[in-house]
Amino acid sequence: MFLLQRTWTEMELLPLVCFCLLTCSGTTFGDEVTKMKVKEDEDVTLPCSLDSTNITSETFDWKKDDQKEVFMYQNGKLYNKGLSGQDPQFKGRVFHFEDQLQSGNASIVIRNTKVTDSGRYSCIFPHHQPTTRSIIELIVDCILKDRTKENKPGLCRKPSVTILDETNDWALLECEVEGVFPKPKVQWLDSDNNTVSAEKPQVTESEGKYNIILNATVTKSDVYRCVSTQEEICHQLDRKIKITLQGAPPEPNNVSGPNTGLIVGLVIALIAVVAVVVYYKCFRGRGGGY
Ligand SMILES: *[C@@H]1O[C@H](CO)[C@@H](O)[C@H](O)[C@H]1NC(C)=O
Repeated sequence: MFLLQRTWTEMELLPLVCFCLLTCSGTTFGDEVTKMKVKEDEDVTLPCSLDSTNITSETFDWKKDDQKEVFMYQNGKLYNKGLSGQDPQFKGRVFHFEDQLQSGNASIVIRNTKVTDSGRYSCIFPHHQPTTRSIIELIVDCILKDRTKENKPGLCRKPSVTILDETNDWALLECEVEGVFPKPKVQWLDSDNNTVSAEKPQVTESEGKYNIILNATVTKSDVYRCVSTQEEICHQLDRKIKITLQGAPPEPNNVSGPNTGLIVGLVIALIAVVAVVVYYKCFRGRGGGY
Protein backbone atom coordinates (compact mmCIF):
# COMPACT_ATOMS: atom_id res chain seq x y z
CA MET A 1 0.00 0.00 0.00
CA PHE A 2 1.36 3.42 -0.83
CA LEU A 3 0.58 6.88 0.37
CA LEU A 4 0.68 10.22 -1.31
CA GLN A 5 1.94 12.11 1.64
CA ARG A 6 1.85 15.71 0.57
CA THR A 7 -0.04 15.26 -2.62
CA TRP A 8 -3.58 15.82 -1.47
CA THR A 9 -2.93 19.37 -0.33
CA GLU A 10 -2.05 20.11 -3.94
CA MET A 11 -5.30 18.64 -5.24
CA GLU A 12 -6.23 21.73 -7.20
CA LEU A 13 -3.06 21.53 -9.21
CA LEU A 14 -3.66 18.47 -11.32
CA PRO A 15 -0.32 18.51 -13.11
CA LEU A 16 1.45 18.50 -9.75
CA VAL A 17 -0.57 15.49 -8.68
CA CYS A 18 0.57 13.60 -11.74
CA PHE A 19 4.14 14.65 -11.04
CA CYS A 20 3.84 13.50 -7.45
CA LEU A 21 2.33 10.17 -8.42
CA LEU A 22 5.63 9.46 -10.06
CA THR A 23 7.89 10.86 -7.38
CA CYS A 24 6.24 10.40 -3.97
CA SER A 25 4.57 7.03 -4.37
CA GLY A 26 7.60 5.11 -3.18
CA THR A 27 6.83 5.96 0.46
CA THR A 28 5.41 3.04 2.44
CA PHE A 29 4.16 2.65 5.99
CA GLY A 30 3.70 -0.36 8.14
CA ASP A 31 0.46 0.84 9.74
CA GLU A 32 -2.98 -0.05 8.50
CA VAL A 33 -4.43 2.82 6.48
CA THR A 34 -8.13 3.50 6.03
CA LYS A 35 -9.07 5.27 2.84
CA MET A 36 -12.03 7.61 2.92
CA LYS A 37 -13.55 9.81 0.29
CA VAL A 38 -16.07 12.62 0.69
CA LYS A 39 -17.41 15.49 -1.32
CA GLU A 40 -16.46 19.05 -0.52
CA ASP A 41 -18.75 20.75 2.06
CA GLU A 42 -19.79 17.40 3.54
CA ASP A 43 -18.86 16.27 7.08
CA VAL A 44 -16.61 13.29 7.68
CA THR A 45 -15.98 11.20 10.80
CA LEU A 46 -12.44 9.90 11.14
CA PRO A 47 -12.52 6.75 13.29
CA CYS A 48 -10.09 6.00 16.11
CA SER A 49 -10.32 4.15 19.40
CA LEU A 50 -8.14 2.93 22.24
CA ASP A 51 -9.56 -0.55 22.73
CA SER A 52 -12.53 -0.15 25.08
CA THR A 53 -10.76 1.73 27.85
CA ASN A 54 -12.10 4.90 29.34
CA ILE A 55 -10.05 7.73 27.81
CA THR A 56 -11.72 10.63 29.61
CA SER A 57 -8.48 11.49 31.41
CA GLU A 58 -6.15 10.45 28.59
CA THR A 59 -4.40 12.48 25.91
CA PHE A 60 -4.98 11.97 22.22
CA ASP A 61 -3.89 14.01 19.27
CA TRP A 62 -4.92 14.14 15.62
CA LYS A 63 -2.35 15.37 13.11
CA LYS A 64 -2.57 15.91 9.38
CA ASP A 65 0.37 14.93 7.21
CA ASP A 66 2.49 14.54 10.38
CA GLN A 67 2.68 18.29 10.89
CA LYS A 68 -0.62 20.14 11.07
CA GLU A 69 -2.40 20.11 14.43
CA VAL A 70 -5.99 19.09 13.78
CA PHE A 71 -7.38 18.16 17.19
CA MET A 72 -6.03 17.61 20.71
CA TYR A 73 -7.73 16.19 23.78
CA GLN A 74 -5.91 16.33 27.09
CA ASN A 75 -7.84 15.26 30.17
CA GLY A 76 -10.87 17.37 29.30
CA LYS A 77 -8.99 20.24 27.70
CA LEU A 78 -9.27 20.91 23.98
CA TYR A 79 -7.90 23.30 21.41
CA ASN A 80 -9.53 26.69 21.92
CA LYS A 81 -10.77 25.36 25.24
CA GLY A 82 -7.67 25.37 27.44
CA LEU A 83 -5.20 24.31 24.76
CA SER A 84 -3.64 26.31 21.95
CA GLY A 85 -1.78 25.35 18.82
CA GLN A 86 -4.50 24.18 16.46
CA ASP A 87 -3.83 24.85 12.79
CA PRO A 88 -6.08 27.74 11.64
CA GLN A 89 -7.34 25.53 8.79
CA PHE A 90 -9.34 23.47 11.30
CA LYS A 91 -10.48 26.14 13.71
CA GLY A 92 -14.11 25.63 14.70
CA ARG A 93 -14.60 22.70 12.33
CA VAL A 94 -13.34 19.67 14.27
CA PHE A 95 -15.21 17.99 17.13
CA HIS A 96 -14.84 14.84 19.20
CA PHE A 97 -17.57 12.68 20.72
CA GLU A 98 -17.62 13.64 24.39
CA ASP A 99 -20.17 10.99 25.42
CA GLN A 100 -18.15 8.23 23.74
CA LEU A 101 -14.88 8.83 25.56
CA GLN A 102 -15.78 6.29 28.26
CA SER A 103 -15.84 3.55 25.66
CA GLY A 104 -12.46 4.56 24.22
CA ASN A 105 -13.81 6.37 21.17
CA ALA A 106 -11.34 9.03 19.99
CA SER A 107 -13.01 9.63 16.62
CA ILE A 108 -13.36 13.16 15.35
CA VAL A 109 -15.71 14.78 12.88
CA ILE A 110 -14.50 17.40 10.40
CA ARG A 111 -17.39 19.58 9.38
CA ASN A 112 -17.76 21.33 6.06
CA THR A 113 -14.73 19.69 4.42
CA LYS A 114 -12.57 21.54 1.92
CA VAL A 115 -10.44 20.15 -0.88
CA THR A 116 -7.38 21.23 1.09
CA ASP A 117 -8.44 18.92 3.94
CA SER A 118 -7.37 16.02 1.73
CA GLY A 119 -4.40 14.25 3.25
CA ARG A 120 -3.20 11.73 5.79
CA TYR A 121 -4.61 11.93 9.28
CA SER A 122 -3.12 10.10 12.24
CA CYS A 123 -4.66 9.55 15.64
CA ILE A 124 -1.97 9.43 18.31
CA PHE A 125 -2.06 8.34 21.96
CA PRO A 126 1.36 9.64 23.10
CA HIS A 127 1.32 7.69 26.38
CA HIS A 128 0.45 4.30 24.88
CA GLN A 129 2.23 1.79 22.72
CA PRO A 130 1.88 1.80 19.80
CA THR A 131 1.26 5.55 19.80
CA THR A 132 -0.49 5.69 16.45
CA ARG A 133 -3.91 4.06 16.63
CA SER A 134 -5.45 5.10 13.35
CA ILE A 135 -4.32 6.41 9.99
CA ILE A 136 -6.87 7.78 7.56
CA GLU A 137 -6.14 8.77 4.04
CA LEU A 138 -8.83 11.30 3.21
CA ILE A 139 -9.75 12.54 -0.22
CA VAL A 140 -12.11 15.49 -0.51
CA ASP A 141 -13.42 15.75 -4.06
CA CYS A 142 -14.36 19.20 -5.21
CA ILE A 143 -17.82 20.01 -6.49
CA LEU A 144 -18.66 22.50 -9.23
CA LYS A 145 -19.58 25.81 -7.64
CA ASP A 146 -18.95 29.52 -7.62
CA ARG A 147 -15.47 30.04 -6.15
CA THR A 148 -15.24 33.75 -6.71
CA LYS A 149 -14.83 34.33 -2.98
CA GLU A 150 -11.76 32.07 -2.87
CA ASN A 151 -9.95 34.82 -4.74
CA LYS A 152 -7.68 32.64 -6.83
CA PRO A 153 -6.03 34.07 -9.94
CA GLY A 154 -7.64 33.22 -13.29
CA LEU A 155 -11.08 32.43 -11.90
CA CYS A 156 -13.89 33.24 -14.29
CA ARG A 157 -15.88 36.27 -13.45
CA LYS A 158 -19.58 36.19 -14.20
CA PRO A 159 -20.11 35.92 -17.96
CA SER A 160 -21.62 38.98 -19.63
CA VAL A 161 -24.67 38.38 -21.78
CA THR A 162 -26.32 40.63 -24.38
CA ILE A 163 -28.92 40.49 -27.12
CA LEU A 164 -27.05 41.22 -30.38
CA ASP A 165 -30.07 41.18 -32.67
CA GLU A 166 -33.75 40.45 -32.33
CA THR A 167 -36.90 40.05 -34.41
CA ASN A 168 -40.40 38.98 -33.41
CA ASP A 169 -39.44 35.36 -33.93
CA TRP A 170 -35.84 34.99 -32.76
CA ALA A 171 -33.08 36.60 -30.74
CA LEU A 172 -29.34 36.34 -31.22
CA LEU A 173 -27.67 36.06 -27.79
CA GLU A 174 -24.05 36.67 -27.03
CA CYS A 175 -22.14 35.45 -24.00
CA GLU A 176 -18.66 36.64 -23.23
CA VAL A 177 -16.17 35.31 -20.67
CA GLU A 178 -13.04 37.40 -20.33
CA GLY A 179 -9.43 36.93 -19.30
CA VAL A 180 -9.40 33.52 -17.64
CA PHE A 181 -7.25 30.43 -17.21
CA PRO A 182 -7.73 27.47 -17.31
CA LYS A 183 -9.83 27.71 -20.45
CA PRO A 184 -13.48 27.44 -19.48
CA LYS A 185 -16.26 25.57 -21.21
CA VAL A 186 -19.03 28.02 -22.12
CA GLN A 187 -22.60 26.90 -22.77
CA TRP A 188 -26.03 28.34 -23.32
CA LEU A 189 -28.79 26.49 -21.47
CA ASP A 190 -32.55 27.01 -21.47
CA SER A 191 -34.69 26.97 -18.32
CA ASP A 192 -34.96 23.15 -18.50
CA ASN A 193 -31.14 22.95 -18.53
CA ASN A 194 -31.08 21.75 -22.12
CA THR A 195 -28.12 22.94 -24.12
CA VAL A 196 -29.09 25.54 -26.72
CA SER A 197 -27.36 24.83 -30.00
CA ALA A 198 -24.86 27.61 -30.45
CA GLU A 199 -22.35 28.81 -33.01
CA LYS A 200 -18.73 27.75 -32.77
CA PRO A 201 -17.19 29.60 -29.81
CA GLN A 202 -14.83 32.43 -30.74
CA VAL A 203 -11.74 31.83 -28.64
CA THR A 204 -8.91 34.34 -28.38
CA GLU A 205 -5.87 34.00 -26.19
CA SER A 206 -3.51 36.64 -24.89
CA GLU A 207 -0.79 36.22 -22.30
CA GLY A 208 -2.05 32.77 -21.43
CA LYS A 209 -5.57 33.96 -20.70
CA TYR A 210 -8.63 33.15 -22.71
CA ASN A 211 -11.51 35.24 -23.97
CA ILE A 212 -14.49 33.29 -25.19
CA ILE A 213 -17.55 34.52 -27.04
CA LEU A 214 -20.45 32.17 -27.65
CA ASN A 215 -23.43 33.21 -29.76
CA ALA A 216 -26.70 31.36 -29.97
CA THR A 217 -29.98 32.05 -31.73
CA VAL A 218 -33.09 31.25 -29.74
CA THR A 219 -36.61 30.99 -31.10
CA LYS A 220 -38.78 30.78 -28.00
CA SER A 221 -39.42 33.01 -25.02
CA ASP A 222 -37.55 31.68 -21.99
CA VAL A 223 -34.96 32.46 -19.35
CA TYR A 224 -31.60 31.48 -20.81
CA ARG A 225 -28.39 30.92 -18.89
CA CYS A 226 -24.83 31.27 -20.06
CA VAL A 227 -22.71 28.92 -17.95
CA SER A 228 -18.95 29.09 -17.75
CA THR A 229 -17.20 26.07 -16.23
CA GLN A 230 -13.54 25.68 -15.31
CA GLU A 231 -13.57 21.94 -14.70
CA GLU A 232 -9.95 21.78 -13.50
CA ILE A 233 -10.59 24.09 -10.59
CA CYS A 234 -14.27 23.16 -10.08
CA HIS A 235 -15.36 26.72 -10.67
CA GLN A 236 -18.72 27.43 -12.27
CA LEU A 237 -20.61 30.64 -12.81
CA ASP A 238 -23.63 31.65 -14.81
CA ARG A 239 -25.63 34.64 -15.88
CA LYS A 240 -29.28 34.65 -16.85
CA ILE A 241 -31.15 36.63 -19.46
CA LYS A 242 -34.90 36.71 -20.00
CA ILE A 243 -36.01 36.66 -23.61
CA THR A 244 -39.56 37.62 -24.54
CA LEU A 245 -40.27 37.22 -28.23
CA GLN A 246 -43.14 39.38 -29.51
CA GLY A 247 -44.18 37.12 -32.35
CA ALA A 248 -47.18 34.82 -32.01
CA PRO A 249 -46.30 31.16 -31.52
CA PRO A 250 -44.72 29.77 -34.72
CA GLU A 251 -47.61 27.47 -35.76
CA PRO A 252 -50.48 29.94 -36.31
CA ASN A 253 -47.98 32.54 -37.54
CA ASN A 254 -46.76 30.23 -40.30
CA VAL A 255 -50.30 29.56 -41.50
CA SER A 256 -50.91 33.22 -42.36
CA GLY A 257 -47.62 33.39 -44.25
CA PRO A 258 -48.16 30.67 -46.86
CA ASN A 259 -51.86 31.63 -47.08
CA THR A 260 -51.04 35.11 -48.31
CA GLY A 261 -48.74 33.59 -50.89
CA LEU A 262 -51.37 31.09 -51.89
CA ILE A 263 -54.03 33.76 -52.38
CA VAL A 264 -51.67 35.93 -54.44
CA GLY A 265 -50.74 32.88 -56.48
CA LEU A 266 -54.38 31.95 -57.08
CA VAL A 267 -55.26 35.51 -58.10
CA ILE A 268 -52.37 35.58 -60.58
CA ALA A 269 -53.37 32.16 -61.93
CA LEU A 270 -56.97 33.31 -62.24
CA ILE A 271 -55.96 36.48 -64.10
CA ALA A 272 -53.79 34.36 -66.40
CA VAL A 273 -56.65 31.96 -67.10
CA VAL A 274 -59.05 34.83 -67.75
CA ALA A 275 -56.48 36.47 -70.03
CA VAL A 276 -55.97 33.23 -71.97
CA VAL A 277 -59.70 32.66 -72.20
CA VAL A 278 -60.34 36.24 -73.35
CA TYR A 279 -57.49 36.09 -75.86
CA TYR A 280 -58.67 32.69 -77.13
CA LYS A 281 -62.27 33.87 -77.41
CA CYS A 282 -61.20 37.03 -79.30
CA PHE A 283 -58.90 35.01 -81.56
CA ARG A 284 -61.56 32.36 -82.14
CA GLY A 285 -64.19 35.11 -82.53
CA ARG A 286 -62.04 36.91 -85.15
CA GLY A 287 -61.02 33.63 -86.76
CA GLY A 288 -64.64 32.59 -86.96
CA GLY A 289 -65.32 35.96 -88.63
CA TYR A 290 -63.08 35.17 -91.52
C1 LIG B 1 -17.34 6.77 17.81
O1 LIG B 1 -18.51 7.54 17.93
C2 LIG B 1 -19.04 8.02 16.72
C3 LIG B 1 -20.23 8.93 17.04
O2 LIG B 1 -21.18 8.30 17.81
C4 LIG B 1 -19.44 6.85 15.85
O3 LIG B 1 -19.93 7.33 14.63
C5 LIG B 1 -18.22 5.98 15.61
O4 LIG B 1 -18.58 4.83 14.89
C6 LIG B 1 -17.57 5.56 16.92
N1 LIG B 1 -16.32 4.92 16.61
C7 LIG B 1 -15.84 3.89 17.28
C8 LIG B 1 -14.50 3.41 16.84
O5 LIG B 1 -16.45 3.36 18.18
